[in-house]
Amino acid sequence: MSAPLKPDRCLIVIFGASGDLTKRKLVPALYDLCRNRHLPKRCGVLGVSRTAMTDDEFRQRTKPWCEKDPAFSEDTWQHFAQRLHYQPADATDLTSFKQQLVPRLGALCKEHQTGDNVLYYLSVAPGLYDPIVMNIGASGLVTEGKRWCSINRDALPWQRVVVEKPFGHDLDSAEHLNRVLGRVFDEESVYNIDHYLGKETVQNLLVFRFANAIFEPLWNRNYIDHVQITAAETVGVEDRGAFYEKAGAMRDMIQSHLLQVLAVLTMDTPNSSRAHDLRVEQRKLLEAIRVIDEAQAPLFAVRGQYGAGEVNGEPLAAYRDDPNTAADSQTETYTAMKLLIDNWRWHGVPFFLRTGKAMRRKLTQIVVTFRPAPHPIFANMCGDEAPQPNRLVINVQPDEGINLRFIGKVPGQGTDLRNAVMDFDYAQFGGEVQEAYAHLLLDAMCGDRSLFKDRFEIEAAWRIVMPVLNYWNNHPAADLPNYAAGSWGPAEADELIAPHGPWRNPEGEVSRSKYLQR
Ligand code: BG6
Repeated sequence: MSAPLKPDRCLIVIFGASGDLTKRKLVPALYDLCRNRHLPKRCGVLGVSRTAMTDDEFRQRTKPWCEKDPAFSEDTWQHFAQRLHYQPADATDLTSFKQQLVPRLGALCKEHQTGDNVLYYLSVAPGLYDPIVMNIGASGLVTEGKRWCSINRDALPWQRVVVEKPFGHDLDSAEHLNRVLGRVFDEESVYNIDHYLGKETVQNLLVFRFANAIFEPLWNRNYIDHVQITAAETVGVEDRGAFYEKAGAMRDMIQSHLLQVLAVLTMDTPNSSRAHDLRVEQRKLLEAIRVIDEAQAPLFAVRGQYGAGEVNGEPLAAYRDDPNTAADSQTETYTAMKLLIDNWRWHGVPFFLRTGKAMRRKLTQIVVTFRPAPHPIFANMCGDEAPQPNRLVINVQPDEGINLRFIGKVPGQGTDLRNAVMDFDYAQFGGEVQEAYAHLLLDAMCGDRSLFKDRFEIEAAWRIVMPVLNYWNNHPAADLPNYAAGSWGPAEADELIAPHGPWRNPEGEVSRSKYLQR
């Protein structure tokens, strides 16, 4: 979030080059950076995986991934392709690492004149993180040393590692992973990526909160009744059943993305927009979220799993019917949680998080509901429509924007009041919304960690979800599947939030119009 920095020359090494993330996100993001002339002049990309392939075969394979870019051009592709390389190797095996990878890295650093700056990207199955990181260390590839030095940055080579989620499977494995990373890389060189932090609207949340003076005085228990954060997806598990079966919605979305969004939404004002100051406040906030006892889990969390249904008019089979999931699977495809933050600012304010696959609409949004006016002098003047408390909705995706509900007077004789909405559409700003991965990759090349999580945030987030995961593990649910694909999730989730009103689902809401319908 600092002023734009210049990316350093570097070699980007992607472990897991034949994987799904490389295909869907990483190569397209790098192509996008190349198209927008954001890649440094001296920059190479090396894909590594076990599949045997030459550089040219890798280029042929990746081209269709880049052609999906609406602004694809053959010229840019040619320029980009020259930087793309591939090395088949078993990166988990030290001999293969030393014999195949180390010399190739050296040659490419020379060819692209990148010095010894290397950005390692771990896009592999989590079980492979340990051996790969240890092999990077054991091969003597980390020359930066344990002390990060900001003096004469151009002259000092750096090595950084970008770590994809999942950051472990539970608290113990996350702590272990962090220890392994810490043996090879300095904390300052570890970039734990969370693509939600790279989303424009999430970054705008920081600006919205801390560049405007009018919201911050209201941003506390005195004015806010409750907050909802929703990340609903219409897709099922697609072809990721094998991965998802071991993950589930709590690990896949809540432990990572939604808790981080919550931290950005609720942290105290950082001293500056520098990475260190943002990390300090987000960590402090995550550490203030109440860690419940396992036995309390049913009061704070709801799990769901989709059964057969219809999404957007198309039939979708039940989660348990996926060829890669168990017929009696206990994996949750939906989670709703109530969280409390034990600090002065938020004491007593409930935060409701929910996420699900196979839901009615794709929607990521934050809804902040304010307390009603303390002395309602206009009570009984709203006709049939009850006056609603002020509500701020931040649409993270789609229809990126912010709207604020307030009560207004209908023109004319008498005092007829109605709920109205002030609407800001992010598209008004023009400009090209940068894909989260492109943004974050560029930040990593620049050495800007402000949108990456540190190890303490990751561990704090695990501490919050572990009691619920343990409870679920020890108490299998008898009622799964408990929501139909294409619905808004299980009924229990409505009960969880009931004391504070319903979940805000878009149906029945008139957005982008002046007045809400009566
Ligand atoms: C990923 C999860 O991290 O985020 C996926 O592993 C999920 O299961 C995805 O679909 C959602 O991301 P987005 O950007 O589409 O909201």
